[in-house]
Amino acid sequence: MSRSLLRPVACCLGLLPLWLLCASSASRCAVWREVADCSHLRLTQIPDDLPANVTVLNLTHNQLRKLPPANFTRYSQLTVLDGGFNTISKLEPELCQKLPLLEVLNLQHNELSQLSDKTFTFCLNLTELCLRYNLIHTIQNDPFKNLKNLIKLDLSRNGLSSTKLGTQLQLENLQELLLSNNKIHVLRREELDFLGNSSLKKLDLSSNQIKEFSPGCFHAIGKLFGLSLNNAQLGPSLTEKLCLELSNTHIQNLSLSNTQLTRTSNVTFAGLKQTNLTTLDLSYNSLSVIGNDSFAWLSRLERLLLEYNSVVRLFPRSFYGLFNVRYLNLRHCFTKQSHSLAVLPKIDDFSFQWLTRLEYLNLDDNNFPGTKSDTFTGLAQLRYLSLSNSFSSLQTLTNETFVSLAHSPLVTLNLTKNKISKIESGAFSWLGHLKVLDLGINEIGQELTGEEWRGLGSIVEIYLSYNKYLELTAKSFASVPSLRQLMLRRVVLKNLDSSPSPFRPLRNLTILDLSNNNIANINEELLEGLEELEILDMQHNNLARLWKHANPGGPVQFLKGLSHLHVLNLESNGFDEIPAEAFKDLFQLKSINLGLNNLNILPSSLFDNQGSLKSLSLQKNLITSVEKSVFGPAFKSLSSLDMRFNPFDCTCESIAWFVSWINSTPTNISELSGHYLCNTPPQYHGFPVMLFDISPCKDSAPFELLFMINTSILLIFVFTVLMIHFEGWRVSFYWNVLVHRALGFKEMDRQPEQFDYAAYIIHAYEDRDWVWENFSPMEQEDQTLRFCLEERDFQAGVLELEAIVNSIKRSRKTIFVITQHLLKDPLCKRFKVHQALQKAIEQNLDSIILIFLEEIPDYKLNHALCLRRGMFKSRCILNWPVQKERESAFHHKLQVALGSRNSVH
Ligand SMILES: *[C@@H]1O[C@H](CO)[C@@H](O)[C@H](O)[C@H]1NC(C)=O
Ligand SMILES: *[C@@H]1O[C@H](CO)[C@@H](O)[C@H](O)[C@H]1NC(C)=O
Ligand SMILES: *[C@@H]1O[C@H](CO)[C@@H](O)[C@H](O)[C@H]1NC(C)=O
Ligand SMILES: *[C@@H]1O[C@H](CO)[C@@H](O)[C@H](O)[C@H]1NC(C)=O
Ligand SMILES: *[C@@H]1O[C@H](CO)[C@@H](O)[C@H](O)[C@H]1NC(C)=O
Ligand SMILES: *[C@@H]1O[C@H](CO)[C@@H](O)[C@H](O)[C@H]1NC(C)=O
Ligand SMILES: *[C@@H]1O[C@H](CO)[C@@H](O)[C@H](O)[C@H]1NC(C)=O
Ligand SMILES: *[C@@H]1O[C@H](CO)[C@@H](O)[C@H](O)[C@H]1NC(C)=O
Repeated sequence: MSRSLLRPVACCLGLLPLWLLCASSASRCAVWREVADCSHLRLTQIPDDLPANVTVLNLTHNQLRKLPPANFTRYSQLTVLDGGFNTISKLEPELCQKLPLLEVLNLQHNELSQLSDKTFTFCLNLTELCLRYNLIHTIQNDPFKNLKNLIKLDLSRNGLSSTKLGTQLQLENLQELLLSNNKIHVLRREELDFLGNSSLKKLDLSSNQIKEFSPGCFHAIGKLFGLSLNNAQLGPSLTEKLCLELSNTHIQNLSLSNTQLTRTSNVTFAGLKQTNLTTLDLSYNSLSVIGNDSFAWLSRLERLLLEYNSVVRLFPRSFYGLFNVRYLNLRHCFTKQSHSLAVLPKIDDFSFQWLTRLEYLNLDDNNFPGTKSDTFTGLAQLRYLSLSNSFSSLQTLTNETFVSLAHSPLVTLNLTKNKISKIESGAFSWLGHLKVLDLGINEIGQELTGEEWRGLGSIVEIYLSYNKYLELTAKSFASVPSLRQLMLRRVVLKNLDSSPSPFRPLRNLTILDLSNNNIANINEELLEGLEELEILDMQHNNLARLWKHANPGGPVQFLKGLSHLHVLNLESNGFDEIPAEAFKDLFQLKSINLGLNNLNILPSSLFDNQGSLKSLSLQKNLITSVEKSVFGPAFKSLSSLDMRFNPFDCTCESIAWFVSWINSTPTNISELSGHYLCNTPPQYHGFPVMLFDISPCKDSAPFELLFMINTSILLIFVFTVLMIHFEGWRVSFYWNVLVHRALGFKEMDRQPEQFDYAAYIIHAYEDRDWVWENFSPMEQEDQTLRFCLEERDFQAGVLELEAIVNSIKRSRKTIFVITQHLLKDPLCKRFKVHQALQKAIEQNLDSIILIFLEEIPDYKLNHALCLRRGMFKSRCILNWPVQKERESAFHHKLQVALGSRNSVH
């Protein structure tokens, strides 16, 4: 039985011994385009069924012991092979032969211990080789000799005791050599000779217990630009030796973090004098003394990192010579032993005067007593100064505190977490370029008169959040009309309902944070005129009363006119009412948070102007019903909705629309199944809203259906009644015709010669002259034509009913000569008509011809003779013309009517 057949069976049965077989099933690799990810599959074999054109194969975190070259024959297109985190202990030279295009080979975290001369012979295209975390203790001969394209070689964490990776010049394209965490104690010139043609951007020797730099060791390397020796116990004297060895190299980046460099002096870095060092990392060194002129040699330095040290004092010449430094990080650089005053760190006046090009200075997390009149003097390019948690006892910012920054073009000043309790007037008057001022998380408690901000002509952002208390006046921000962002979260704002509003001068304000202030009293003026406002945070206040119907003077429309507002947060305000007009002007609102209030019924049309809303939060309110009239506009283009934890009323009227919307919208509604639950009616309590069956709701729509049906029936009825009333004759007449036809009364379409007469002429006695005058000439013209004229063809005066009936039958057509006289003729009336009609119904509608000698309305015709014009074809209805010259046309028409066959077409 083939294994491929066995696998699925074993998998299905979950048989443990066979399970490993299943696990090695290559089909579980994720293949996307030409990348195959077979990581974390407990593979013991190389998958053999991947697409042959994969270029990246990830075999990490498996149980592979070998990479047999034969098993890679199929994957000759590979450029990246990641075999990390396995137990591979041997590598065969033929692997690269099978993979001629291989550029990246990663075998980290394996059990390789031996690299032979041949191992990488064929890996000519390799640019990156990672062998970190293996068991390689020594390198013999020249395993990397052929790697002419290698750019990065990682041999860290291997137990190597020497940097010697070869006996002859090689690796001429190497840029990064990582040898950290080995057992290298001495850097010897001859052990680095093999790099004589290389230009190393980074040589990482961190975490080696290096004790000795032998003469010329770094000069053995072609060019050395970057060196990391972090976590080596160098101390001041070895550091000095190191720098001497580095003199006249191309060194630019030197990282000496955590090297026990406890003090520096005017000789420590002397060796670097002849270099172009641009970055020096001295962080985490317990550095306590930076002696005068320590950096005097480093005039090209641009970045100096000194964070996490314990410097006690900055001398006036500690930073002497750093004329080119742009970035200086002194975060947590000074000693923190604050309790004994004797060791409070100290910055001597003019300490920074040498740093004329410094742009960024970080002094966070220190413990200075305060600033002095010349602390920052000379920082002529400083733009960013961070003094967060820098002072132990700054307390009051006076008009002297920042005087030393008067000549710095400072843009950002961060003063958070300094226990500042008071800002005196003119404190920032020196900082005319300042754009961002962060005074958050302090203990400021005062009335803001506006004098505090005097001179801040360019200010854009002021952070005052998290302070003790702030009492506002109409002038509080009068001196900073350029302000765009004002953060006043949790500052116990007082006097917010003053008039005019404290924010009135801030015409450019786009972000205002008034949250967590327990604000209860404001008036409609508060935000008036803030037409640029885009973000307004008022969560966690006490605004409920303002929107109550019963509020004296009516609801306070404090959002009036905020036509550019995008984001509005009103969470946790105790709202139980919202006036219908509350959001009327907020046309551009994208996000509104009304969560954690007591809202139940919202007025319909509340969201009518919020057609572009993207995010709506109403979680934890008392909302029972979600109706289209309220939420329709808000839901239109929503991308995220939060209405969790509301006591939904699961009845058709309350949530049917909501449920059908939920189940069809692409809007993101998180925790829909778990936190949208019915509260009422009792039988649905705790039931997920989304599962509420709305099909019965459609049955209540039957009312609508029923209504429609009823209306239709009624309309049809009315129509029928009217129809019957006005057109009933037509219906019954054609009904008769139809019935006769249907019952098989075949049209007796006899030939003209089968009739004795061409037509039987019915007329009133008074009209006999007209008849005679008009019909006898026709007979004379056409000898075959004979009319049945009562006066002539019946015995004079005798009108036998039987004869009439017979005559009508023997005539092909019946002609009524209709005048007022005929209508009054008692005998003609009804009987003759009835006979003629009967014949017409039985035989043919064309058999009756009406000739009107005068104008007779239809209703009179109907009333007298039970005839209507509408019963007959138009060609069978003739009118005797008034004009003489039309008489011939009349005769022509009459002949046509007589000649027409007795049939309905
Ligand atoms: C390599 O392929 C052979 C033959 O297909 C197979 O028996 C062997 O298990 C494979 N080895 C690995 C490590 O995949
Ligand atoms: C790689 O092979 C798969 C099938 O083996 C094929 O679908 C895909 O088009 C191939 N990709 C390229 C770039 O040839
Ligand atoms: C291989 O997969 C591991 C784990 O999923 C991942 O960390 C690693 O970056 C991947 N290797 C490559 C070359 O994509
Ligand atoms: C290296 O790869 C290129 C294509 O990228 C290929 O043309 C060349 O033959 C490869 N070199 C060797 C030695 O296989
Ligand atoms: C330092 O840079 C200058 C010019 O920028 C160059 O002339 C000099 O050779 C460089 N010195 C070293 C040691 O790289
Ligand atoms: C270093 O400072 C000492 C005094 O502390 C001085 O005697 C010596 O000349 C200085 N060395 C250099 C190179 O400036
Ligand atoms: C600082 O304020 C004090 C009064 O508080 C005043 O006497 C002094 O002139 C001010 N200094 C400057 C530089 O404005
Ligand atoms: C000020 O510094 C604190 C602490 O580092 C930081 O959290 C805050 O974001 C900074 N303020 C500004 C405006 O960057």
